[in-house]
Amino acid sequence: MKIKSAEFLTSATNLRDCPPDDLPEFAMIGRSNVGKSSLINMLTEQRSLARVSATPGKTRLLNFFDITATASGAGATKWRLVDLPGYGYAKVAREQRADFSEATADYIERRENLLCVFALIDSRLEPQRIDIDFLQWLAERDMPHALILTKTDKQSPAATRANVERLSQALRAWRADLPPIFLSSSETKAGRAEILRFIERTI
Ligand code: GTP
Ligand code: MG
Repeated sequence: MKIKSAEFLTSATNLRDCPPDDLPEFAMIGRSNVGKSSLINMLTEQRSLARVSATPGKTRLLNFFDITATASGAGATKWRLVDLPGYGYAKVAREQRADFSEATADYIERRENLLCVFALIDSRLEPQRIDIDFLQWLAERDMPHALILTKTDKQSPAATRANVERLSQALRAWRADLPPIFLSSSETKAGRAEILRFIERTI
């Protein structure tokens, strides 16, 4: 699939404010600073389509981007990428759990045209409670999802593979099958072709 154009459509603060649900949507979510906005820029090959922040946790809005692409053997396809606010930790009743906005939860649970959530995870880290909790939350809701392990340029392929293995083990502790796992770098564009192929197949 070749991306022909990508443009910012609108921002929303809640589900009601979202644009009409007339195009297939793929949403990026993950901890603050994991590289959601950078990945959107990498996939669309636009340097500053989504705002990359030096200070984590800046994106509080749901940001929608309209994409026009040509799929192999087909005409133009239109779809959307959605940049969701990053999640962080909240202390709730002595127990730490993934804290993300009600708007994000609403969007994921009720958006009819949301085909897949890309859960971004830093490839340099051992499995984090917060990410596992979030993946569990998605699985409980039967929300189709795939994992993208970001920033692979920052370490050796062997170190990335070791973390993929640890993460897979952590997931197998409570689920029978693993979601698709992609390795990416917004610096080297690693993973771009695979992720776009997955989107093409999913549409
Ligand atoms: P929030 O919107 O604040 O939640 O952050 P985000 O998840 O959108 O992360 P963002 O794309 O803003 O990237 C955070 C920082 O990581 C920036 O300094 C990026 O340049 C850097 N970064 C993101 N992806 C990569 C990557 O693949 N490789 C390297 N080396 N740096 C990256
Ligand atoms: Mg961002």
